[in-house]
Amino acid sequence: MKITLLGAAGGIGQTLSLLLKIQLPSGSSLSLYDITSVIPGLAIDLNHIPTGVKVEGFNGAYAIPALRDANIVLISAGIARKPGMDRADLFHVNAKIIYDLMNQVASIAPKALIGIITNPINSMVVVAAKVLKKAGVYDKKRLFGISTLDIMRANTFVAQCKNKQPTEIEVSVIGGHSGITILPLLSQIKNIHFSNQEVIDLTRRIQNAGSEVVKAKAGAGSATLSMSHAAARFSLSLVRALRGEKNIVECAYVEGNGEYTNFFAQPLLLDENGIAEYLPIGVLSTFEQLTLNNMLETLKKEIKQGEEFVR
Ligand code: LMR
Repeated sequence: MKITLLGAAGGIGQTLSLLLKIQLPSGSSLSLYDITSVIPGLAIDLNHIPTGVKVEGFNGAYAIPALRDANIVLISAGIARKPGMDRADLFHVNAKIIYDLMNQVASIAPKALIGIITNPINSMVVVAAKVLKKAGVYDKKRLFGISTLDIMRANTFVAQCKNKQPTEIEVSVIGGHSGITILPLLSQIKNIHFSNQEVIDLTRRIQNAGSEVVKAKAGAGSATLSMSHAAARFSLSLVRALRGEKNIVECAYVEGNGEYTNFFAQPLLLDENGIAEYLPIGVLSTFEQLTLNNMLETLKKEIKQGEEFVR
């Protein structure tokens, strides 16, 4: 099993590399790529950790050597938000980076499962899909926007609110990964009842949690540690699915059947080919249905921006 991480020198990239080095199954290989010359050193640094995962580092203008024979490609390359910015403000810089990297993925690792972490995820996944389509290698079941951090935050905040262990809670989060497009389905959590005010407050907090971190980091970037943990959880689910494990379910932002928007975050059953099944989002409360209706215009706009970037 080979996992390639593009953007490995950044705040997310370095932490995610560490988590993968210590959590991937023994015998896996982890290939790190970034443009900067720190990469070979990062690989040596990680290889001093005694696990059965071999790390290789590649830097320079092209990711091609890092991508050879990759089963999973993760992309965290790009710039992060500063206070006062929305994720959408990152579009122009990051779309170009995703475009360039995805062209290389399309030619070297077209069969890999691909996980996009770079923001704005709602648009970057669409850019990636269009590059793959243009190259004639697109399979919508193999491309994912990693929205797992929304689930982790929902689990954490619900547990805090209800005095539970966060590990006991698993909230489905649908829609997308930006502001009002993030919709936690609190009504579906078993055996927990929320007041209307709790639902409003928790939903807002989950939707704005990325900005909470950006503001607190005061110009030094956005969430890196929790995002890396989330990306590691999702990547390890892909690894387990690729190894034939059954019943692996994760929410992710993917191209679906277009019931709400062409790209939409929803629960998915995973297997060795990526998405085995698009699972239903289930019954929504009136508040959730209203929030879903209200997000669609924004989500469609963010999808269109991604589509129009690749001609
Ligand atoms: C997050 O949710 O923390 C990330 O998407 C980073 C950001 O800019 O908010």
